[in-house]
Order: sequence, then structure tokens, then C-alpha cells
Amino acid sequence: MRNERHIVGGHGSDVCAPWSWARRARPVKNERLPADKEPRKRWTNVMIGMGVGLCLVLVSGCRLDMHDQPRYKPLAPSRFFPDGRSARPLVKGTVARGHLRLDDHFYTGKVNGQLVDTFPFPITRQVLERGRERYNIFCAVCHDRTGSGRGMIVERGFPHPPSFHIERLQKAPVGHFYDVITNGFGRMYSYASRIPPRDRWAIVAYIRALQLSQNATLDDVPPKERAKLLASSAAGDGGAGADEQGSNGTRSTTDDRSRTKNHE
Ligand code: HEC
Repeated sequence: MRNERHIVGGHGSDVCAPWSWARRARPVKNERLPADKEPRKRWTNVMIGMGVGLCLVLVSGCRLDMHDQPRYKPLAPSRFFPDGRSARPLVKGTVARGHLRLDDHFYTGKVNGQLVDTFPFPITRQVLERGRERYNIFCAVCHDRTGSGRGMIVERGFPHPPSFHIERLQKAPVGHFYDVITNGFGRMYSYASRIPPRDRWAIVAYIRALQLSQNATLDDVPPKERAKLLASSAAGDGGAGADEQGSNGTRSTTDDRSRTKNHE
């Protein structure tokens, strides 16, 4: 060949493809070029290629991203835990964030298991008004607006609740009312999911106000209003007014219903 120091590799000639000639040219056996010029031997390239390939295969097998990690599907069985459940019960004493309820008085209406007879925060006019609003929304449908227990739902067949003005409930501690709202009572269901604790206390305060209002004497009325009341009862319409308020002069009991019927 023209160049005695090189063998032509492959099919091209330096005329039609000079680059392939240059690349494929190999030194004559035993000739030594400077270290940086020494072309790599073919088998070395093959080895490197295989090595890289192997690494890629191995590395792709090791891939463990967050979206592809070992996990259980919800409620899937588990062979790891003795009870066979992958859904683990909460550790004893676990408290959900924002649900640490250390104030027993406020949250349960009890202290050391005993119903309290005091409110956990001061009762202001604002609290009472809030209580009246909540009471009229949630309780009046059965207990009616005065608390005598003749609400609309009861009139249509729901079991008759006792009046709040019977002696037992007059004397019941405020914690009892809070407890009834929170946990329900007999046929009355719990309102815990609908009325937050502070509103429950506001309702209890309003029930206390209702109890006072239904058992008030003339001495409890401010002198200015007293004169008006006396004048109206002298005119003969005092009785009807009292009926509307549901006081009826006697304390209401479960036979209120028949009494109402008689009035109608
Ligand atoms: C759907 C009708 C209904 C509603 C609404 C309702 N109650 Fe009652 N409530 C009852 C009935 C019925 C009873 C009697 C339960 C029994 O003795 O089995 C009762 C009983 C009570 C008692 C008496 C417990 C006792 O010691 O005898 C209280 C106090 C009370 N309710 C408070 C409330 C308050 C406060 C609300 C509003 C947050 C409310 N209830 C809403 C039906 C209702």
C-alpha cells in the first residue's frame, strides 16, 4: 500500500473517506508512539463498553424513588405483624394534633368524675346571646323556645323530653346539661359533632336563664316593668301572656302535651 507504516482497516480509502482512513490506521506491530498518542486497543474499548453497560443494568435495578417504595395498600394483610394487619392501631396515649384536651372542666363538664356546678369561663351578656341563638337553632325544635319540652318535632311524635323547669332539672348542676349535649341522654342523641364545647356552655348558660325566667317572682322584675305587669294583669290579659311563655303557673311535666291539647 501507499503508506507502508499502516495497514488499511475496513473498506474505505483515504481518497473518498480520509477521516476513516486516519481513524482506522493502525501502527505497525511493535512500533511505539508517545504515550498520549497511543491509540486504544479494540478489546479495551469493548471491555469499557461492557463495564458501563453492566453498571447501567445494575444501577437501574437499584432505583428506589419515593413514588416506588415498598408499602402496603390500605388495609392490605401483612405477614410481618402477628395480628396479620398492616393498618396498625394507634399507640396508647396518641393525641391528634389540636386535640389535646387537658381542661376536664371545659371539655367534659366533670372534675375528678364529678359533674361541675360552675362555668369554666365568665358568662357575659354576649355569651348568653350566643347561647340563645344556638339553643333556638339546635334544641328548640324539641325542647321548645321556653324549655318546656313541647317543640315542633315532639308535637309530631318524637318522644317527649322533660321540661327544664321540673325540680330535678332546676337543681341539676350545669355539668349535667353540658354532659347531655356532649354524650346524649336516653333517646336524645349527642350534639358533640355539631356544637363545639364553648357553644355548649353558652347553651347551658341560656338554659339556666330560661329556668330563672320561668320561675321568676314579681320581685325579680325591675320596678319600672313591675308597674306595667300589674296594670296588664288588672286589665285581665296577664293569663294569656303567661300561657304563651309556657309557664302555666305550674311546673311542666311529661303530661304537658295533653294539657296543651286541652288549651287548643
Ligand atoms: C330531636 C329532639 C331533641 C333535640 C333537638 C334536643 N333534645 Fe334534649 N331531649 C330530647 C328527648 C327525647 C329527651 C328525653 C330523653 C330520655 O329521657 O330518654 C331529652 C332530654 C334532654 C335533657 C334532660 C336530661 C335529663 O336529665 O332528664 C336535657 C338537659 C336536654 N335534653 C338538653 C338538650 C339540649 C341542650 C339540646 C340542644 C343542644 C337538646 N336537648 C336537643 C330530645 C331532644
